[in-house]
Amino acid sequence: MSTVPTPPRRSGGTAMSSRLSPRDIAARKGQDPVVCITCYSAPMAGFMDPHVDLLLIGDTLGMVLYGMDSTLGVTLDMTINHTKAVMRGSARACVIADMPFGSYQASPQDAFRACARVMAETGCSGVKLEGGIEMAETIAYLVERGIPVLAHIGLKPQSVNVVGGFRVQGRTRAQARAVQADAKAVAAAGAFAVVIEGVVENLARSITQAIDIPTIGIGASAACDGQIIVAEDILGLFGSFTPKFVKRYAELGRAVSDAVGEYASDVRRRRFPGPDHVYGSTKAKPSRRKKTTREKTKRKKATRPRR
Ligand code: KIV
Repeated sequence: MSTVPTPPRRSGGTAMSSRLSPRDIAARKGQDPVVCITCYSAPMAGFMDPHVDLLLIGDTLGMVLYGMDSTLGVTLDMTINHTKAVMRGSARACVIADMPFGSYQASPQDAFRACARVMAETGCSGVKLEGGIEMAETIAYLVERGIPVLAHIGLKPQSVNVVGGFRVQGRTRAQARAVQADAKAVAAAGAFAVVIEGVVENLARSITQAIDIPTIGIGASAACDGQIIVAEDILGLFGSFTPKFVKRYAELGRAVSDAVGEYASDVRRRRFPGPDHVYGSTKAKPSRRKKTTREKTKRKKATRPRR
């Protein structure tokens, strides 16, 4: 169909799989940077898996795939379906599902039920949830019951309505102290790593030095123990807005538009399908005449062994 390499089809995760585990990610504190990226589909997982340590089924899927204005409309079923797809398409990366808004905030028990469902139905390695001090009790509850948690502090997109927009955090002393306290709280609660989003650079750097779990930055600092990014942002597949912290590594949106434009023009001018893309009629085989009884007996006689 195309010259693009087909991503290898992979088996889902099992207890015996060779995937990186949350423990492996935690052990990378102060080592080589942990490479993380968002992913929502099996083919993309196949392309990304050889290059990264962690694939996150971020709730950004609501915005970059479903065209929502924020991440708040994402449901548990959407998260589960996309996580299953990423599990099928990957073999090595640690796969983490981002818990959608409303699925974990009410109580540790509610959080456990929702997270356990995600883990059981998808086979993923852990969950991510937004929140600092206010979520520490829930994080401890989940970790004690076998659910690895990636915490998320700083700019928390699920709190956009309370904070009043997507605002960089840590510009004031009070804000910086609050984010620092959040980092310490989630580390003490047992999170295996923490995403720090949209904070001033020196705050991310000082948090990285202050806690003993890996910090995964997005709009934070190169000093973090790892980085995460929304794939569609760096691939040029999401055009609504581009945050300052995004670097474009490809312009796939433009490539798609150009390719589909060419296809449309070929169809309109009847240049597609061409001779190579249509099926020829089957060549008629010479029909075999039925042998007469006389011919059959003659042949039998000829092949009979002589005494
Ligand atoms: O939902 C998401 O994609 C995220 C990343 C931006 C960290 O939370």
